[in-house]
This record gives sequence, structure tokens and C-alpha cells, in this order.
Amino acid sequence: MKAVVIDGYGGPDRLQIREVKCPELEPGMIRVRVRAAGVNPVDWKIRSGMLKGILRPTFPLILGGDLAGEVDAVGEGVTRFQVGDPVFGMADLRKGQTGAYAEYAVIAESAAARKPDVWSFEQAASVPIAGLTALQSLRDLGRVPSGGSVLINGASGGVGTFAVQIGKALGARVVATCSASNAELVRSLGADTVIDYTVHDVTQRDETFDVFFDAVARSNFRRARHLLKPDGTYVSTLPSPRLIGWMGLLPILRPFGVRRRAAIILVKPRGDDLATLAQLAEQGELRPVIEHVYPLEDARQAHEQSQTGRTRGKIVLHIA
Ligand SMILES: NC(=O)c1ccc[n+]([C@@H]2O[C@H](COP(=O)([O-])OP(=O)(O)OC[C@H]3O[C@@H](n4cnc5c(N)ncnc54)[C@H](OP(=O)(O)O)[C@@H]3O)[C@@H](O)[C@H]2O)c1
Repeated sequence: MKAVVIDGYGGPDRLQIREVKCPELEPGMIRVRVRAAGVNPVDWKIRSGMLKGILRPTFPLILGGDLAGEVDAVGEGVTRFQVGDPVFGMADLRKGQTGAYAEYAVIAESAAARKPDVWSFEQAASVPIAGLTALQSLRDLGRVPSGGSVLINGASGGVGTFAVQIGKALGARVVATCSASNAELVRSLGADTVIDYTVHDVTQRDETFDVFFDAVARSNFRRARHLLKPDGTYVSTLPSPRLIGWMGLLPILRPFGVRRRAAIILVKPRGDDLATLAQLAEQGELRPVIEHVYPLEDARQAHEQSQTGRTRGKIVLHIA
């Protein structure tokens, strides 16, 4: 099959398209004829070696955690899918799985869901990592109450565009930050108030929130904590030694009346949660925002674009 492969860590020029062996099916797994693969910052972080202390891939490595396509074969014990089903899903990056930048990929049955008819393969492929991160951050870590309020920092990126819509679907008032050129987009996704972070320092805001979700991990808890309600939660997408320190300290301060919490999301490839996102799409409450679809052959340009840190929504690779 055709796949985009890296033979070692390095820059975008490491990405090479070539013929490789089809991945083997294992029990509990499905093989997908991939029609589209989502591109996420974690892909170029793996490629560059930034995550080599955490993930230990073996080379040659096919990158890509997000995919959409049709089930091509099912492993022993698979009950939820049949050959031909249109699905979208996520490789388990925690187990070192990747492999979506290819004509065929194997993922766990439990990490996939049926693609909703309202999404194209490209739209479905843009969802898993970013959509699950937003859902699991707001619903599970943030426990956003209906009628509550959420501040989303970095609302115009992959995670942020889903977070705004999921915050609204959870029944919250959503205040969102992005740069001025993306304000209209973020408003169109449902944000009640949009703040241009290049002009206004959001931490100077005179308002408190149930959840401060830093989708781009550019704030810090010490400066942001006064924006939380007394039992509010701060959730970040990236670990930092300071935030880990706060996460250790806050529970110790609980007996003294400090009820605020801090958390770091580590996205989990849950098919049930993907089905929740698909249902939101069918109800008209979740639409992917895609900045650019590149052919698989242009994975290098896709990585260069993602690395700018200014992507509006998502980037997707189309696999012919
Ligand atoms: N821990 C996990 O499980 C997990 C899961 C998914 C993602 N992540 C991490 O989460 C981060 C975000 O992912 P993503 O896919 O959303 O990235 P992305 O799509 O590349 O984010 C791009 C967006 O970031 C915005 N941005 C840049 N600087 C900003 C700032 N100072 N303040 C506010 N917004 C700013 C840009 O907005 P403007 O152009 O409007 O300025 C742009 O829209 C990445 O570091 C990723 O690795 C972690």
C-alpha cells in the first residue's frame, strides 16, 4: 500500500511517500481503507522527536492518529463493525500506535464509531483527536454544568473550534479568545463573547467561569486562577512543571477551603465518545472547520502549515 513514512526524527523533509506492507489485523481490531487522515500538532511533534521521552516509536514509522474510511477487514472478536461500514477513529497514541497517513490502517474496534452521513470522509477525519480532546476536557475534567460558563483560550484552532461548539451543546455560556481575523468564525460556531487576545489580556477580565479551558496551553494557572469560580476547574492541553506542581498542591489546600481544581487532558481514543460527537453532528450542533485538504503526497506542506501554530480549524490529508 502507499503510505507516508519517516525513517527517523527530523524536519518535514523526512516525510516520504512509498510502498510499504499492509498492516496486519489483530484480535479486537479493524482494518480501515483510509479515505482521509487528520493532521494534528502531535504528528509533527512525534516526527521532530519532541515526544521521544514519552512515546518510543519504531522506524520506519507511518504517522497519523486520525482517520476516516471504510472497514476493509475485521479481527477476531469484533462485533460492532462489518466490512464496508463507513467509520472514523483514532489510533491509540499512548500505546505508540499511529499509521493513518496510509491507504490502510488498523485501529481498535473500541476506538472507532460509525461515520455520520452529514460528514464527508474529510470532515470525519478532522474530528477524532481534537474533538475528543475538547469533549473529554469540558465534560469529564471540567464537568461543565448546564447553565454554567466556560472560557476557551485558543478557540480558532483544531481543539478550540470543537470546544466552542461542545461548550454550547453542554448548555454553557462560552467566552472565547482568538485573533481578530478569526473572530467572525468563532462567533459563527456559537461563542457568546469573543476576545482578541492580541489586544486584550484575558486574565484582566472581571468575570469568573466554571471552566477555563486553555486549548493552546498559552496561559498559566497562577495568572488565570482568579478567573475561576470558587469550585471552578482549569484544564490545559499540555503539561508544564508549574501546572503539575499546582495539581499536587490544590488537593492539599482543600481542607482550608480552596476548592479550585487544575487538570491536564490526555486524550483517550474512545469510540463511545466519537459516537457522541457524531450524534451532535446529526443534531446540527457540531461542524468541523477545515482550513485545507492536501493530497497524501503533500503531507510535507500539511506539516509545515500545522507547525505555523496559526491553523484555522483543521488540516486533512485526502487519500485517493
Ligand atoms: N494533551 C492532549 O491530549 C492533547 C490533545 C490534542 C491537542 N493537544 C495540544 O493542544 C494544542 C492545541 O492543539 P490544536 O490542534 O488546537 O492546535 P492548532 O490547531 O495548531 O492551533 C492553532 C490555533 O492556535 C491559536 N493560537 C496561537 N497562539 C495563541 C495564543 N497566544 N492565544 C490564543 N490562541 C492562540 C491560533 O489562533 P489565531 O490564529 O486566531 O491567533 C490558531 O487558530 C497543541 O499543543 C496540541 O499538541 C494536546
